[in-house]
Amino acid sequence: MSANPITASAIAKVVSAALAQIAEAADLSKLKAIRGAVVGDQSPIHTMNASLRDLAPEFKAEAGALVGKARGEINAAYAAAEAVFAAAEERAKLAAERVDMTAVATRIPLGARHPLSLLQDQISDIFIGMGWEIAEGPELEHEWFNFDALNFDADHPARAMQDTFFVDPVESHLVLRTHTSPVQVRSLLERELPVYVLCPGRVFRTDELDATHTPVFHQVEGLAIDKGLTMADLRGTLEHFARSMFGPEAQIRLRPSFFPFTEPSAELDVWHPGAKGGARWVEWGGCGMVNPNVLRAAGIDPEQYQGFAFGMGIERTLMFRNDVKDMHDMVEADVRFSQQFGVNL
Ligand code: DAH
Repeated sequence: MSANPITASAIAKVVSAALAQIAEAADLSKLKAIRGAVVGDQSPIHTMNASLRDLAPEFKAEAGALVGKARGEINAAYAAAEAVFAAAEERAKLAAERVDMTAVATRIPLGARHPLSLLQDQISDIFIGMGWEIAEGPELEHEWFNFDALNFDADHPARAMQDTFFVDPVESHLVLRTHTSPVQVRSLLERELPVYVLCPGRVFRTDELDATHTPVFHQVEGLAIDKGLTMADLRGTLEHFARSMFGPEAQIRLRPSFFPFTEPSAELDVWHPGAKGGARWVEWGGCGMVNPNVLRAAGIDPEQYQGFAFGMGIERTLMFRNDVKDMHDMVEADVRFSQQFGVNL
């Protein structure tokens, strides 16, 4: 009778070798790498188990039980090591993904509307409240609308190169509009009479940017053409405008002046009660009764219709209303400047 080759000591060797290998594996991936060699088809314990088949029948039961127990032991050791590593890995992952619910959120700062836009809207609203309409015209304007139709002489100094951006080629007769007054004529040509329009918009002059000038700025133009309008209507409208803007104590004053498109013409001053350093008169804009030549240019009979017009700078208005000292602040688009006027979006 041959001896049983699957002895208890042979089994114990296989077990201790497998346990040693498992104990050596330092992490989950190393453990997985030895899986086949320790518990898989290539492992000594598996081979030993398979060889039970060839064992003489009288040894089978005992050796089978021992090998079965040994397999169980190795499998359990492998599973235990796997569980330890898996738990450690899970802990590391959770730690790495930890979210601090108490941390202060990074806020994306809201922008702010530019104070010039806010002011332009405020002015528009005052006139819309009186039943006026908002009119717009092109920034690239024909010289005829910008000057001729507004009764500027061919040699009027305002046409000279130092004020006006002429656009190439000169024969196109296009300019960057130097004021919003051309929208007066456009409105009269486009609309049915009577016309009550407010025209806010961007204008251009060949000025250098400094504390009080900028080559690109904004104006608001008003035009009212109806039957029987007089200078009293102009005055009343401007007074209402001034009080809506600067408070009930605001007053206006008209000083004789000259503009080609109005006759008579006046400079408009406003008594600004909220001025920093005390109430005072401030030059605000120009105004007057629309010159009959402008009405004729728009095909309107000045014997039947009359009216008034006015215009002022929006930058200038913002400067004295809010005590802004430097034009650079208005053109540099620094949100910290705008935010002082509220984030009103
Ligand atoms: N267009 C003039 C300017 O840019 C301002 C102005 C003056 C507009 C008198 C008017 C007005 O409508 O009547 O300086």
